[in-house]
Amino acid sequence: MLKRIILCLIASLSIGGCASRKEADMRKTQSLKDAYADYFLIGNIVSGVDMDDLRYNILTTHHNIATAENAMKPQYLQGTKGVFTFVDADAVVNKAVSRGLKVHGHTLAWHQQSPAWMNSEGVSRGDAVANLATHAKTVADHFKGRVVSWDVLNEAIADNPPNPEDWRASLRQSPWFKAIGADYVEIVFKAAREADPTAKLYYNDYNLDNPSKAAAVYNMVKDINERNPDVNGRPLIDGVGMQGHYSTHTNPANVENSLQRFISLNVEVSVTELDVQCGEGGKQTDDQKITQGLAYAALFNVFKKYAEHIGRVTMWGIDDGSSWRRQACPTMFNDSLRPKPAFFAVLDPDKFTAENRMFIEKREKKETKQSEAVYGTPDLTNAAAWSQAPAIFIDSYLTAWQGASGTAKVLWDENNLYVLATVNNAEMNKANRNAYEQDSVEIFIDENNEKTPYYEKDDAQYRVNFDNEATFNPSSAAEGFESWTSVSGRSYTVSLKIPFRTISAEEGVLIGFDAQINGASAQGARQSVAIWNDLSGGSYQDTSGLGVLKLTKR
Ligand code: G3I
Repeated sequence: MLKRIILCLIASLSIGGCASRKEADMRKTQSLKDAYADYFLIGNIVSGVDMDDLRYNILTTHHNIATAENAMKPQYLQGTKGVFTFVDADAVVNKAVSRGLKVHGHTLAWHQQSPAWMNSEGVSRGDAVANLATHAKTVADHFKGRVVSWDVLNEAIADNPPNPEDWRASLRQSPWFKAIGADYVEIVFKAAREADPTAKLYYNDYNLDNPSKAAAVYNMVKDINERNPDVNGRPLIDGVGMQGHYSTHTNPANVENSLQRFISLNVEVSVTELDVQCGEGGKQTDDQKITQGLAYAALFNVFKKYAEHIGRVTMWGIDDGSSWRRQACPTMFNDSLRPKPAFFAVLDPDKFTAENRMFIEKREKKETKQSEAVYGTPDLTNAAAWSQAPAIFIDSYLTAWQGASGTAKVLWDENNLYVLATVNNAEMNKANRNAYEQDSVEIFIDENNEKTPYYEKDDAQYRVNFDNEATFNPSSAAEGFESWTSVSGRSYTVSLKIPFRTISAEEGVLIGFDAQINGASAQGARQSVAIWNDLSGGSYQDTSGLGVLKLTKR
């Protein structure tokens, strides 16, 4: 006992507080890089300015590869044409190398943090090509021998491209694309390979758990490597980086599907910018800490399964306090640099999951709510037409703040579903440019009630604000849609006509359904989200948590 007290005192002196048993366990057992020595490298970011000793010690204790968070981006290396400033980036890279870390380079071409002189302001195609190739060659050459791999091109594919079979049409309308055209992708990879034939060359992007974006990336890499099978002895693109800016609503099955897809290209895959949002205002409840840990555990179990093909898993942030998403507490260490449950989840995913089995069981016990849609064809402007339909209460909150809430009633006929939503306690604010942050009603439909973890052709999301402005996901869901709104004080009603898109509506059919109310603050930010059934917060991309409606005739 005395020994344990002395140990605790020593520990508290070294990290500034009496260590919990778990922290002590962590120190005497493993570091993350040791735990994953047989699987893949473990990485994190280095930011020149905020890397004090404590953070750097966490970096070297648990990781074996580092990415510069910002220092190697084009804006910092060549802000002025022809003037390369490597001082800060060299300091970051040399320190990492001297402390035994490998370094991954980020990034040679991106639409952000890049100076306008390179590709905008009337730069001709020829000049843009020269600027891109010169930058990539000079930078890759400068770091040759110190950098094991490069994000050659970052985030070139648009979000949710409608036709991913055509990768060129799926490219983001970025300054590089506008100045050069789709060829710019190959140009930058060829320049990097020429300058540093040894470094592994990656294409890097976010939201690659989205099947449509993943398909566009797959088609791009496949096409480019098929046309360039032997550039210095190997295909031009060595790897695909799945950034992994996830949340606890991310479905690991979608991540796994995309991993499999990229692996089938015979390229290396890395997880390059992992963080998992779960919190608000820089705070996490105890439940959120466990939920986040379970999400990390599920993801690392997927990564372990495909470890043979994964080069590294890099986290985007040592601790919540220095994370780019600090409000959502997405990392494994808290503001005081103490390991969170997420750390232990990554250290040993199976153990963490087993230890929290009761928590998981409680979460899974939640029953799916069911209600009815009643046969009838209403006039959208006449709320009384819905009087036969039972009320669905939209009053379970995804947020701590309990703002606007309401009810929905649903009718159906052979062609459409008709929803009447009545909302109370709203600010009537639509100042935010994000439609989901305005006072609005969202309806989620899963016509075949198959509860898929991603949207299929029968799934759609409809959003109407109090001023009758509608937005759709996918955009094709707008076809045949109609809506009407009316406002009275702090209450408003929205009626929606939602055409059936894939099913024959008849009595007895079950459809997946949910209704959500976004409550704006007086300042125009979303402060509350109330929903009928799906408390995952992921209904915009995953239909597995929706409630169920039965089509009935009375
Ligand atoms: O350059 C100024 C500097 O002069 C000033 O002193 C400083 C003071 O705030 O601001 C500096 O710029 C900031 C820069 O980080 C460097 O600290 C920018 O305002 C800020 O927007 C920038 O944010 C970075 C962001 O990329 C830019 O889009 C984040 O730190 C960085 O984590 C983030 O990383 C990206 C990856 O590169 C690509 N994938 C997405 C990921 C997250 O957005």
